[in-house]
Amino acid sequence: MAYHIVVLPGDGIGPDVTRAAVQVLEHALKGQSVEIVMSEHLIGGKALDTYGVPLPDVTLEALHKADAVLLGAVGGPKWDVGPGHLRPEAGLLALRKTLGVYANMRPVKAFSELLDASPLRREIAQRVDLLIVRELTGGAYFGKRERGSDAHGMQFAYDTMFYSENEIRRVLITAFDAARLRRKKLTSVDKANVLDSSRLWREIVQDVSSHYPDVEVEHQLVDSCAMNLVTHPQSFDVLVTENLFGDILSDEAAVLTGSIGMLPSASLGQGIGLYEPIHGSAPDIAGKGIANPLGAILSVALLLRYSLHVDDAATRVEQAVAKAIAHGARTKDLARGQDDVVTTDQMTERVLAHY
Ligand code: NAD
Ligand code: IPM
Ligand code: MN
Repeated sequence: MAYHIVVLPGDGIGPDVTRAAVQVLEHALKGQSVEIVMSEHLIGGKALDTYGVPLPDVTLEALHKADAVLLGAVGGPKWDVGPGHLRPEAGLLALRKTLGVYANMRPVKAFSELLDASPLRREIAQRVDLLIVRELTGGAYFGKRERGSDAHGMQFAYDTMFYSENEIRRVLITAFDAARLRRKKLTSVDKANVLDSSRLWREIVQDVSSHYPDVEVEHQLVDSCAMNLVTHPQSFDVLVTENLFGDILSDEAAVLTGSIGMLPSASLGQGIGLYEPIHGSAPDIAGKGIANPLGAILSVALLLRYSLHVDDAATRVEQAVAKAIAHGARTKDLARGQDDVVTTDQMTERVLAHY
C-alpha cells in the first residue's frame, strides 16, 4: 500500500525549497519497501490568484486521502492587501486547523561546522540543542476577533487569546513525551504575571507534570525567556508554549543555528502530519535561486520518521545534510567571507551526493 503525500509548494521561495525536498524524499525512498504517491496542489497566494481563496476545495479534497503534507511557504507583498480571511496566511492556518495538527515540533540544533554563521560566541552556539513545541491550532490565531468602529467613528480591532483546558493538556502531553525521549527537562513559557490564559496554562502544566515525575519542569515568563534563549540557550531542552509566543521564539532560536533557512518542523496531532520549514516565502530573495533548502530537506527527514516510519532513511537524510555542510557547501544566508557559496539546486545536489 502506498502512502499519499500532498505537496503544497506555495509562494515565493516555497516552490524552490519544496522541489529540493521532493528530490531528497524520492531519493531516500529508493530501495526502501515504502512506496509513495505524490500530488501537488495550490495554497496561499497562488491559490488566491487561481481560485479566489487561499485554501481551495480541490486542495482540501486531496487531504482526505493524504498520509502526510509537505509544504513550502505562503505569502508575499502582492497579497498583503486583502481582508484577513483572503490572505495567503489564512490558507495555512485553515490547513493546520483542518488537519488538527496542534503540536508543532521545531528542533533547533547547531551544526558544528556552521558555528561561525551564528551570532553567538562559538562556545555558546555549539551547545544549542533544543526542541520547541509550539501549540498550533489555538490562541490569538484562532480566537474571537473583530474589526470595526464605535459610535464616534473610532476604529478598533481585537484578537482574543482563547485556550480551553483540553487544548492546553494535549500539547503538553506531546511535549512531556518528547522531553522523556531527550534530556528530561521541560520549560513551559507563558505570561502568567499578566494573562489569564497563561495562568490556566501553568495550572495544567502542574497537573500534567504529576504524571511525569522523571521530567524536570520549570516555568519562564516569555519576555525573560526571549533573553535566556540568547544568553543561556544550552539551559533549554524542551520548550513548550502557546501559539504566538512559539512563533516568535522559534524565529529567535533559529538564528542561533546560523540561519532561519536551516530549521524544519513537524506538525502533529490527530493523524496526518504536516511538514514545513519554519521560514516564510522570503520575498526579498524569491526567484533568485539562492534560498537555503536545508530547512525543507530536514522537514523531509521528519516526514520519513513520523509519517512513513522509516527511521533509518530519516537519519541518513540528516547525516547527508551534516556532511554537505561539513564539506563546505553554504547557501548565501550561511556564507561568511571566503566560503564556497552554492545555489539552492547545488546545495540539494550536495546533499544527494552524501546520502
Ligand atoms: P521570512 O522567513 O520569509 O524571511 C525572513 C528573512 O529570512 C528574509 O531576509 C529572508 O530572505 C530570510 N530567509 C527566510 N528563509 C530563507 C531561506 N530558506 N534561505 C535563505 N534566507 C531565508 O519572513 P518574512 O519576511 O517576515 O515574511 C515573508 C512572507 O512569508 C510573509 O508574507 C509571511 O506571512 C510569510 N511567512 C510564511 C510562513 C509559512 O508559510 N510557514 C512562515 C513565515 C512567514
Ligand atoms: C510560521 C508562520 C505562520 C505562523 C504564518 C505565515 C501564518 O510565521 O509558520 O511560523 O505565524 O504560524
Ligand atoms: Mn513564524
